[in-house]
Amino acid sequence: MNRLIFRSTQELNEAGAGIIVGLLQTNPKAVLGLATGSTPIGIYEELVKSHRRGLVSFRSATSFNLDEYVGLPPEHSQSYHYYMQQHLFSHIDLPASRANIPDGTAADLAGECERYNKLLDDAKQIDLQVLGLGHNGHIGFNEPDQSLVSGTHVVTLEAATREANARFFDKPEDVPTHALTMGVGTILKAKTILLVVRGADKADIVFRALTGPIKTEIPASLLQTHPNLVVLLDEQAGRLFS
Ligand code: GLP
Repeated sequence: MNRLIFRSTQELNEAGAGIIVGLLQTNPKAVLGLATGSTPIGIYEELVKSHRRGLVSFRSATSFNLDEYVGLPPEHSQSYHYYMQQHLFSHIDLPASRANIPDGTAADLAGECERYNKLLDDAKQIDLQVLGLGHNGHIGFNEPDQSLVSGTHVVTLEAATREANARFFDKPEDVPTHALTMGVGTILKAKTILLVVRGADKADIVFRALTGPIKTEIPASLLQTHPNLVVLLDEQAGRLFS
């Protein structure tokens, strides 16, 4: 595990974007695994700047997003489709046909999970998977449980997750109860994983996930088993690591 602690958010964002830019410069056809949430927004901003400066192109790349809320159409301001358009896709040259996100409005959700798994299988391997971290240790929307699912599946969101994400919705009851998420098996299959964690409120969970026992009740603890894990932390999130 390569763990880096940054004094400023700006430095962290530039480092995160730099890793992605470096990958695309050496492998323009890279398969990127992308995350949502507030954490990666600054990294996406830096990526857009690099693209505008002509330092990186996404023309030959492919992306797979981790998750999407069930029931939110792409034009809903809190859907992860909308988020990706707003923060990244509308500003870069990634072909829409290769920007994959699970469809939370599919009538047949099990069928949609199968379709997404098939696309992931066809892509063989994600080269770089960006991950944020939930306060309960979730990655993507893989919530703490006694067992975890390997492939893309439907999850029931924990009350704590819905509360954490309520800040983005008009009313707490508007937060969807379910989501589609890539499974931990797919996440762990990525060649490199880039875990990004910011803020004092995540210091305890990121420390437990990366140094404590590996258990499905803290899904992110499984990342300890990954041979190529890069962790970017700000000083607040990294304060328990000496
Ligand atoms: C959501 C997403 C996760 C994300 C997490 C943390 O639940 N499904 O992928 O990592 O929130 O979000 P934030 O970065 O806003 O703290």
